[in-house]
Amino acid sequence: MTSSHVRIGVIGAGFVGSALVAALLEEERHVALVDAATGTIELVGVAVRDITKPRPGVPVELLTDDALSLAAREDVDIVVELVGGIEPAKTYIETALRRGASVVTANKALMAAHGTALAALAHEHGADLHYEAAVAGAIPIIAALRSSLAGEKITRVLGIVNGTTNFILSKMTMEGLDYGVVLAEAQALGYAEADPTADVEGFDAAAKVQILSSLAIGTSLQGEEISREGISAIRALDVDFARRYGYVIKLIGVVERVGEWGVSRRTHPALVPASHPLASVNGALNAVFVEGQNAGPLVFMGPGAGGQPTASAVLGNVLHAARNRNAGRHDVPFTVDDRLHNVDIADLSSVFYISLDVVDEPGVLAQVASVFAHHHVSIQSMEQAGLASDARLNFVTHEAKTSDIDATLTDLRGIAAVESIGACLRVIGGAA
Ligand code: NDP
Ligand code: HSE
Repeated sequence: MTSSHVRIGVIGAGFVGSALVAALLEEERHVALVDAATGTIELVGVAVRDITKPRPGVPVELLTDDALSLAAREDVDIVVELVGGIEPAKTYIETALRRGASVVTANKALMAAHGTALAALAHEHGADLHYEAAVAGAIPIIAALRSSLAGEKITRVLGIVNGTTNFILSKMTMEGLDYGVVLAEAQALGYAEADPTADVEGFDAAAKVQILSSLAIGTSLQGEEISREGISAIRALDVDFARRYGYVIKLIGVVERVGEWGVSRRTHPALVPASHPLASVNGALNAVFVEGQNAGPLVFMGPGAGGQPTASAVLGNVLHAARNRNAGRHDVPFTVDDRLHNVDIADLSSVFYISLDVVDEPGVLAQVASVFAHHHVSIQSMEQAGLASDARLNFVTHEAKTSDIDATLTDLRGIAAVESIGACLRVIGGAA
């Protein structure tokens, strides 16, 4: 049994780090009373980039601008990485793990790109690597998948795992506003960053999908490319179409078993039935919907971002690592199942909503319909919206293969009367 006094070093004191420091200073006073197994914890250092910035609540004697030395300090038992990005965060984490310190991180980009190697490094050195806050902020989905659902054959995970895009799409839905107007408002309110690319183009959600897939199904975390589409092309017109037909548009992350060993991992906007549990998850909230063979459908919902909610998940990991340390053990890494293979989205089928901006004249519908037919895409419903220069044809298909839809769109672009493809979005089914 090692010492029951555990020393913590925090690297990064931004939104999440500063909330964690406040919580840790509070927790130092209480933990020994509430949980003997955790022992006492002590915050011994906080590394930042700019040591001159005012940081209310962070004791100045703890501050350093030498993060690497904090990660390397022999008397630091748990290093918390809250910098973000790949480097230098990866070097800080590796430095801590190599000397047997446990690491807690909220860094989804790093975990998606290097999670398998970092987990192996932690195991090799008898240390923990925890990352609960990397997916869906305060929602304990990683613990649920690793522990409570460890014996479950998970068939599908659907999630709203990006708060910024959910805020934007919810506001477009409720107020009928255009994407650009709502994005500007989200930036003014601090929900979206000045450069919103990581969120609105789906990179953030894709990293979270990879992490969910590794835990739900057993895929690796080695920077694999997954299918990704963002929300920046969604128009108020599409949101209105969805509403009229009983759907809402959400950016969803999907992990899905295909057959016994196939896995599809993807993120894209989709029309979700208004009756689906994910449809009523609005604003910056996140939710993860898990379907298991025996457990049935489960929904986890809550704040997916923000300093305090995210720090809450980080603190839970810190206390878990402290308990493990005091008991002389560490958690084993997630299992990677080499039998799994990636299924290309082109081979998957879905119902699609397709909206075309067209010239309003006789014969256009017949030309368009023949292209759908040529590629074996069957039409479920069609409407003409708008007139003259504003004319649109909106289609909902029957289930069709993505590669057939792609071929259809390519040919439609070649028809002079089709001015542009306004939208092509997946429509997901009923309660599942
Ligand atoms: P911030 O940008 O607010 O904070 C980053 C912190 O890291 C700052 O204190 C910065 O120092 C420090 N830093 C940057 N570079 C270095 C460096 N080279 N060495 C030492 N310190 C450095 O980020 P967040 O708090 O928002 O995010 C932290 C992590 O948590 C990221 O991985 C993010 O993806 C993840 N996360 C964030 C959520 C959120 O809601 N914000 C939600 C879930 C996860 P300085 O203050 O001097 O600039
Ligand atoms: N940028 C993320 C979001 C928060 O909007 O959900 C960090 O995971």
